[in-house]
Amino acid sequence: MLKLGIIGSHTITKQMLAAAHASGHYRLTSVYSRHIERAKEFGQPYGAKYFYDDLETFFDQGDFDVVYIASPNSCHFAQAKLAIEHDKQVIVEKPAFVNPHQFDAILQLLQAHPQAHLFEAARHMYTPLYQLAKQKVQSMGTIQGATITAMKYSSRYDKVLDESAPTPNIFNPDFAGGALMDLGVYAVYVAVDLFGTPQQVQYFPTMTTSGVDGKGVAILRYDGFTVTLNVGKTANSYLPTEVYGLKDAVVFDNAFDTRKISYFDAEKHEHELIPDHLYGNGMLDEMLSFADSFEHPTDPERQRQYQERLQLAKKVNTVMFELRQSAHLHFPADN
Ligand SMILES: NC(=O)c1ccc[n+]([C@@H]2O[C@H](COP(=O)([O-])OP(=O)(O)OC[C@H]3O[C@@H](n4cnc5c(N)ncnc54)[C@H](OP(=O)(O)O)[C@@H]3O)[C@@H](O)[C@H]2O)c1
Repeated sequence: MLKLGIIGSHTITKQMLAAAHASGHYRLTSVYSRHIERAKEFGQPYGAKYFYDDLETFFDQGDFDVVYIASPNSCHFAQAKLAIEHDKQVIVEKPAFVNPHQFDAILQLLQAHPQAHLFEAARHMYTPLYQLAKQKVQSMGTIQGATITAMKYSSRYDKVLDESAPTPNIFNPDFAGGALMDLGVYAVYVAVDLFGTPQQVQYFPTMTTSGVDGKGVAILRYDGFTVTLNVGKTANSYLPTEVYGLKDAVVFDNAFDTRKISYFDAEKHEHELIPDHLYGNGMLDEMLSFADSFEHPTDPERQRQYQERLQLAKKVNTVMFELRQSAHLHFPADN
């Protein structure tokens, strides 16, 4: 059983803990929160025994093998750095890091700490349904691009509209917020995983009064085709995600909460892709996969897969940064 420590006590950590419990591979032992009472209140119902409000002490004294980091985006780097320095296994929520400078520093640190491993929690990449879609796309004779949508109204945008309320972290540039960083990373993952690194990118953001992109459109140029990303947190989109072949297409009902993917053949007949399972908790596949890797740290095939995941995360990080640069979106963490 992997002993688990957590940073961040919001909804996504609860979902992760439900997945961790369902996987049968993790046991929560240690909780860090900025407030000790919050650490106890959050962790005790899950059986945690050790509580900290000091990050260094959490890593020095906490009894855990794996740390799950679900803090605001701008905090991930310093927290993951400390975790690796303490030879922990790290699961860091997406987007793992704010820019290539941070990512490269983490890669260097991982080399110096070979016992530590780091996964970005790009949950939608780990489902068998997505893997079926990827195989289908790879089998298509011609690719003419894609439209990938990751857009959902965030209830936290209500607080931005109510200018008397404090700006939520995810709409705050100081915390590396915004639509591209939040839901956009799911779309970038799909594009980079299916088609590789684009030759050129351009992002056209619509800014919020709080100084981040609330929504936007990105164009990724590849050799012979383009991919369009629609991302946003200030509107709801019901558009499916589509990959275009010649006469055929692969259609996802949703790019990041995927429940159904179909292949439409040249005669326009629909063939639904049926995975061997589709878990209700969208984090269960990734938590199982991470556990398998952490539990077999010297297995060559798992190591190969791990390196592949890390390289994919690195490519996504680079494309995200180039998209931000194309739109002059700057975060304090870039300084
Ligand atoms: N995979 C997914 O489906 C998914 C879904 C949602 C979010 N996420 C990712 O999870 C991460 C957290 O997102 P979130 O919406 O939960 O963020 P959040 O609510 O802004 O903050 C998460 C936690 O971080 C701590 N925190 C809050 N403000 C902080 C500050 N100023 N400085 C340091 N720590 C602070 C809080 O924990 P304490 O009060 O206990 O310290 C809070 O519970 C993000 O990277 C996001 O992209 C992933």
